[in-house]
Amino acid sequence: MLRDELRQILEKGLRDVEADWTVPAAIINDPEMHDAERERVFGRSWVFLAHESEIPERGDYVVRYISEDQFIVCRDEDGEVRGHLNSCRHRGMQVCRAEMGNASHFRCPYHGWTYNNKGSLVGVPAGREAYGNKLDKSLWQLKPVPKLGTYKGLVFGCLDPDAPSLDDYLGDMKFYLDIVLDRSDAGLQVVGAPQRWVVDANWKLGADNFIGDAYHTMMTHRSMVELGLAPPDPKFALYGEHVHTEHGHGLGIIGPPPGIPLPEFLGMPENIVEQLQRRLSPEQVEVFRPVAFIHGTVFPNLSIGNFLMSKDHVSPPTSFLTLRLWHPIGPDKMEIMSFFLVEKEAPDWYKEESYQAYVRTFGISGAFEQDDAENWRSITRVLGAQYAKKMELNYQMGRGVYEPDPDWPGPGKAFPMDYAEANQRNFMEYWMQLMVTDPASHTGNGKVSDEAAAEALARAEA
Ligand code: FES
Ligand SMILES: [Fe+2]
Repeated sequence: MLRDELRQILEKGLRDVEADWTVPAAIINDPEMHDAERERVFGRSWVFLAHESEIPERGDYVVRYISEDQFIVCRDEDGEVRGHLNSCRHRGMQVCRAEMGNASHFRCPYHGWTYNNKGSLVGVPAGREAYGNKLDKSLWQLKPVPKLGTYKGLVFGCLDPDAPSLDDYLGDMKFYLDIVLDRSDAGLQVVGAPQRWVVDANWKLGADNFIGDAYHTMMTHRSMVELGLAPPDPKFALYGEHVHTEHGHGLGIIGPPPGIPLPEFLGMPENIVEQLQRRLSPEQVEVFRPVAFIHGTVFPNLSIGNFLMSKDHVSPPTSFLTLRLWHPIGPDKMEIMSFFLVEKEAPDWYKEESYQAYVRTFGISGAFEQDDAENWRSITRVLGAQYAKKMELNYQMGRGVYEPDPDWPGPGKAFPMDYAEANQRNFMEYWMQLMVTDPASHTGNGKVSDEAAAEALARAEA
């Protein structure tokens, strides 16, 4: 159960985010919020685990996380993708101690129980002497992730067995995900292992930034404009559409600044442009044609960056695609996992240029990455303090300035400018709805029942 004080903060927050367009600062860096969030948000949501191309062969595996639970995500001997809790059924030891590899079996280092990559217990040392051959191995398989789903190569897991399908959870966001994930016949390839690093910042700051914060580019990334790595207009991220969908998802779709011509379709290679025009719907093609930057977040902690940027001040810009996972490891700490992806059928020159543009901007030492991380560290430190926690944060951008765009060809609620905070409010509102909804009354992942949401709102308004 939530402590009363926490509940009051969240219920007031829910009321304020709708009426005043503010968000309580206390949600950022607070140990009790973090504890509740593990169950109420990460225990119910579909969380990104891996891309299928990371485990192309039978036996390939990676170890990934949903909150603190770790799962071996592998391709079993029949080629099926599975997720097993990385914890031996005997005493709980990790059965897999490497982060990635290829194995037909996982042998526990403690007493040697051995599981195959379907998760079945197949070997128990000294089974005759110790168990009289009476241990029913079929009852002691590795625990599977309660729900596992794949969408266009992205593998997600969910701890809530009653969650709605991944398809329903992603909902209208799929229209936009397709534009990024489904442009080519052979699909995407994650190149190399993800880069990983720990930042002393709350994970929601990354999710909030990527879901809709085009506004920060003018200040935080001004030096990128001056160095020639971003378009020569400090407000370059203003000119776009700001869109969100149900379940807290959202994105920004940015075109070239006025008077600064940029190539269509993110300047992707000709063969990919030919394929995407065939694969995507006319509405998706219309949305994608003028695009120079796509940034977005799939609730809760998977973000997407598909950007047209220069690797240095003399090279022409090349687009790249990165997935970023904001993995929480405390109220004030996250591990960032950053994946670089490229179309398998893209020409080699593009793969190389694209990789370099990614590494130098959003890789671990990338110029943009450094700019952002320092802000998030600073916010987390400040908002962990007792007086600072009591304030409200301003999410009022665009209030009275513009209305939803009636002509937008895609689904969701769209606004005609990316200097907006509707996506961020939508994200925070959904997060707070999950937080105030007690486990017994929710109907599954990411889906707060209508009655529970109405009850929470009624309490907030009382
Ligand atoms: S803990 Fe794994 S075999 Fe004992
Ligand atoms: Fe940024």
